[in-house]
Amino acid sequence: MLKEVIATRFIAPLREGGSLPGLVEADDLRTYVLKFTGAGQGRKTLVAEVVCGELARRLGLRVPRLVTVELDPELGLAEPDQEVQNLLRSSGGTNLGMGFLSGALGFDPLAFPVSPGEAGRIVWFDALVNNVDRSWRNPNLLMWRGELWLVDHGATMIWHHNWPGAEVSAARPYDASDHALAPFAPDVASAAAELAPLVTEELLADVTARVPDAWLTGEPGFGAPDDLRRAYARPLLARAAVIHDRIQGIK
Ligand SMILES: Nc1ncnc2c1ncn2[C@@H]1O[C@H](COP(=O)(O)OP(=O)(O)O)[C@@H](O)[C@H]1O
Ligand SMILES: [Mg+2]
Repeated sequence: MLKEVIATRFIAPLREGGSLPGLVEADDLRTYVLKFTGAGQGRKTLVAEVVCGELARRLGLRVPRLVTVELDPELGLAEPDQEVQNLLRSSGGTNLGMGFLSGALGFDPLAFPVSPGEAGRIVWFDALVNNVDRSWRNPNLLMWRGELWLVDHGATMIWHHNWPGAEVSAARPYDASDHALAPFAPDVASAAAELAPLVTEELLADVTARVPDAWLTGEPGFGAPDDLRRAYARPLLARAAVIHDRIQGIK
């Protein structure tokens, strides 16, 4: 499970992305970027954030820490923006929090060179989880204290939107031609050799165990949350072994 905190103050909406995350202060006195369970994108986005964020971390990539944030919808009462107030009101219970990297800058490919090794690891990881949200238009990469951090893994694992077709969907290639790090000569062969052996059944069981039960209940065709956890692990395990040969669009 992830560490659980309680939101004590809603600070402000973060208007940069598409999903309108918020900034909250929690009872551990830290600041988190809050992904609302009541957002239009739904709970699956939050599951994807946890599965892929924790997987990336286990593969040695930098991801801000993830927690669950209990939210009292009353926190939104003083919020003047109607859209934000609605989100807060519809997000009582368990939400996702990501440690706020204060002072982080959006990744600028012209200002910050990335080594082929690091670019390769990130492109390989994005191919593994089928991340379609790391393009040069919207890299979801932050520069913080001189290093590259990964955020926003909500648009990954497209197969979890249609479980009966998951196996077929997960066998498809990954198009990296728009990837923010495509221009940095990503060495995906070395990345695959280094990272693929780490993606084991045990590791995936560990990573999927961190997803709160509350986001895994009621999925059609599945019983207990652990059934669905295994369904998340399966395509990733299969893909880890082969995806290196199915990355398209980079030299
Ligand atoms: N942990 C974080 N620390 C600092 N800034 C962040 C963090 N997470 C997200 N952001 C900023 O907020 C923006 C929107 O967050 P993101 O997770 O990408 O949500 P969306 O689904 O709306 O794209 C990011 O592009 C980034 O600029
Ligand atoms: Mg984003």
